[in-house]
Amino acid sequence: MPSSVASKSQSDRPGLYRPGVDHYASPDRRDAVKQLWEEPVTFSILKAALAQVPGSMSLSVMDIGCGAGEGLHLLRALRATRSLPSLPRLTYRGLDLDESLLQLAARTHHDEDDAQFWHGDIRTDLPDTPFDIYMSCGVPFSHLTAEELRSTLIRLFSTVRRNRTRSIVVIDVLGRYSLEWAPQWKRSRWPYRMSFFRSDERAQEVPMTFWDAHSISTCVRSAAAAADCRIERQQLFDRSVMVGRHTATGDFNPGLPPYRTLINRLEDGEMVPTAQLRAPVVDQSAPEAIRAFFGRFAARWNDVLDAAEAHGKVRTLPPAVAGPMLARGLRAVEHGLASGLGTGHSLSAVITLDERT
Ligand SMILES: C[S@@+](CC[C@H](N)C(=O)[O-])C[C@H]1O[C@@H](n2cnc3c(N)ncnc32)[C@H](O)[C@@H]1O
Repeated sequence: MPSSVASKSQSDRPGLYRPGVDHYASPDRRDAVKQLWEEPVTFSILKAALAQVPGSMSLSVMDIGCGAGEGLHLLRALRATRSLPSLPRLTYRGLDLDESLLQLAARTHHDEDDAQFWHGDIRTDLPDTPFDIYMSCGVPFSHLTAEELRSTLIRLFSTVRRNRTRSIVVIDVLGRYSLEWAPQWKRSRWPYRMSFFRSDERAQEVPMTFWDAHSISTCVRSAAAAADCRIERQQLFDRSVMVGRHTATGDFNPGLPPYRTLINRLEDGEMVPTAQLRAPVVDQSAPEAIRAFFGRFAARWNDVLDAAEAHGKVRTLPPAVAGPMLARGLRAVEHGLASGLGTGHSLSAVITLDERT
């Protein structure tokens, strides 16, 4: 069935994502870091959600803040790579405020599965009919204030409770303690700009809310209690500890090396001076768990750099071999240590609700 755009309510930030249309339509968006560092984490999050759904011939998915339909693309990519051969027949609904992204979604996704894109506000327009999975990606929930997220979750959890279903909710938000914005760590909401969009039109500043493991868990628990809904399980994931897109823009932490650019160069077969890749020392006023995490992380990350130097690989091997080899070692540190504290560009909570009995 072709996808369709159904008008439900007016956007209250018209044009916010207009400069992003070229970004979302461009193949350049999928740089090496996105493909090798970020998408594997995204796929782990989706697999964690899918693993909680009871086996069935069909699966209904609501993609909250779907933009140009990245969620549908990811689900199809999972099926195409056969990492999820049993992904059943999909009913997909995307909900978003931004007309320009919804039009791109409708142009991009058609003819496969039962996909529709709806214009509406996630705070008020989530449908009363339940879905197996409420997914989100690209941090749409960070547009909401903490209180708005709580009331949106109460509404969503109440739908699950009323319909007596088992449903999985993926809440994707910006990580409060990303190195990209270390000077802002003291604040949980501040004006953010998606300056990585490559467009002639300058991206607007917009207030966003930043979350860590404690604040998101507290919000989810409070919403579940208000909706009288039982949380069976919560899993947390950090994505992009060292390679968030704002390490390349330098907008919010100008002192940080442009790690994403440097690592893209390594992955693309160039060698870069290892001194530029050293992990930073984080502010000693950060919460203890965050400082401890970055302490462990920096030690392992810098060990990989030291080992590459000590074995002479950096100097003796051709860059086309040494670059990706070093990147693989650093990637293993990132994927091995990230643990859902809110220390990456984004933090995802996978919440399992079971109201069947
Ligand atoms: C960074 S984009 C991510 C889009 C898409 N999920 C992706 O991963 O590419 C965040 C999206 O959240 C949407 N959004 C923000 N606030 C919203 C709201 N209150 N209701 C519906 N959509 C909203 C924006 O329009 C935008 O498309």
